[in-house]
Amino acid sequence: MSRKRHCRENDSLKIALATKNPGKTKEIHSILEGLPIELVCLHELSIGELPPEDGLTFEENALKKARFVSRMSGLTAIADDSGLEVDALGGRPGVYSARYGGGTDEQRYLKLLEELEDIPEPERTARFRCVIALVSPGGVEKTFEGVLEGRITTAPRGDHGFGYDPVFCLPDKGKTLAEMPPEEKNLISHRAKALRKLRAYLLRHPYLT
Ligand code: IMP
Repeated sequence: MSRKRHCRENDSLKIALATKNPGKTKEIHSILEGLPIELVCLHELSIGELPPEDGLTFEENALKKARFVSRMSGLTAIADDSGLEVDALGGRPGVYSARYGGGTDEQRYLKLLEELEDIPEPERTARFRCVIALVSPGGVEKTFEGVLEGRITTAPRGDHGFGYDPVFCLPDKGKTLAEMPPEEKNLISHRAKALRKLRAYLLRHPYLT
């Protein structure tokens, strides 16, 4: 049986999602809705652990996870990596965003506020960056990037979201990401922007192998 046959059911392309994060899974499902694809989660593929995110760039980490899951499953796979780049810290925490300052989201954003204590408002510029990698068994490798520009606040605000959302403010909206309901954040987020580029690519390449 050809690989193409193996990867498709009812003429839809099967894509393995290389993430264990249920929030990301939901967002990916909602943005890719309506495409002739079937998303398969790691659990359905009996893949337990993903390789460590030890690359120096978001792109390296996302590609590493997508290559691993594509190899293990024989399917096209997508994976993402994301983080926060703060200009006054020379781009830190960047790829180390999940491992910066302590074990909880709150410890991480409080450490960030502490590090930025003496930095005035105009210099508190920052961005969330997300890279999504797509790897197919036939050797296609593509990456899609999304960026969301903003400023770091001086105190946390809002109860929605996760990670650094309470201290990441969108100056034109006058709110932090944690002050926005998920539907509003998901329209403008770095991940949504990268996913929309992936969606456009999949629309142009429905017969990816
Ligand atoms: P990863 O892409 O799951 O490795 O995420 C890296 C880290 O970046 C997360 O643990 C968060 O700390 C941070 N991060 C990524 N995206 C967001 C976001 O949308 N809001 C808040 N923090 C984020």
